[in-house]
Amino acid sequence: MRIYVSKDYEEMSKKAANIVAAQIYLRPNSVIGLATGSTPLLMYQELVRLHKEEGLDFSEVVTFNLDEYIGLPERDVNSYHYYMHNQFFNHINIRRDNIHIPNGMASNIDKECVDYERLIMVQGGIDLQVLGIGKNGHIGFNEPDVKFETATHRVKLDEETINANARFFQCIEQVPQYAISMGIKTIMHAKKVLLLANGSAKAEAVFKSVYGGITPETPASILQLHQDVTMVLDEGGAQMLGRSLANYNIDNALNRLQAQA
Ligand code: F6R
Repeated sequence: MRIYVSKDYEEMSKKAANIVAAQIYLRPNSVIGLATGSTPLLMYQELVRLHKEEGLDFSEVVTFNLDEYIGLPERDVNSYHYYMHNQFFNHINIRRDNIHIPNGMASNIDKECVDYERLIMVQGGIDLQVLGIGKNGHIGFNEPDVKFETATHRVKLDEETINANARFFQCIEQVPQYAISMGIKTIMHAKKVLLLANGSAKAEAVFKSVYGGITPETPASILQLHQDVTMVLDEGGAQMLGRSLANYNIDNALNRLQAQA
């Protein structure tokens, strides 16, 4: 696991955008997994700038979003479809048929989940998965649980997540209770993972994910077992990790397990 600590949100976002851009420069037809929420907003802006000013080419890029609310139509301003087009896709040269976001309006949600998972496989899997992290340690909408959910599935959102996301809605009652989310297995199968976290509100979740036990109570802790994770944090997000870790390759659980084997 590599951890970069940036001085602020702006620097964090530029670093993250550069990592995504490098992936695309190296493999123009990369399959990129994308997140929504507040965290990656500036990363998307920077990627748009790289496209417009520096010719970053998305024409062969394929994307899969992590999640979508169940019951919100695409045109709803709070749907992740709306967010992604508004913040990102409308400003770059990605092909519309290369964009994939779970359909939260599907009449058969279970089938939608199976089809989504299959589509990812057909594309050869995800090369680089961008993640944010919830205050409760969720990734995608994989909420703290007694087990790690495997593939793309329907989730009941935690009260904490509903409260956190209520800021985007007129009132909390409007926040959907259910979503479709890639599962932990889907995320763990990505060849590379890039997790972003800014602000001290995320510090505990980041700390538990890096140093805590690997437990479904902190879903992001499973990333300790992934071969290629980069975390890009700002100082707030990193504040519980300790200064010595800044921009350091840390010895993670996987290395420890390999050393014991
Ligand atoms: C969004 C997603 C979520 C968010 C997380 C953090 O697609 O999957 O896991 O990344 O809830 O949200 P923000 O960035 O709004 O704090």
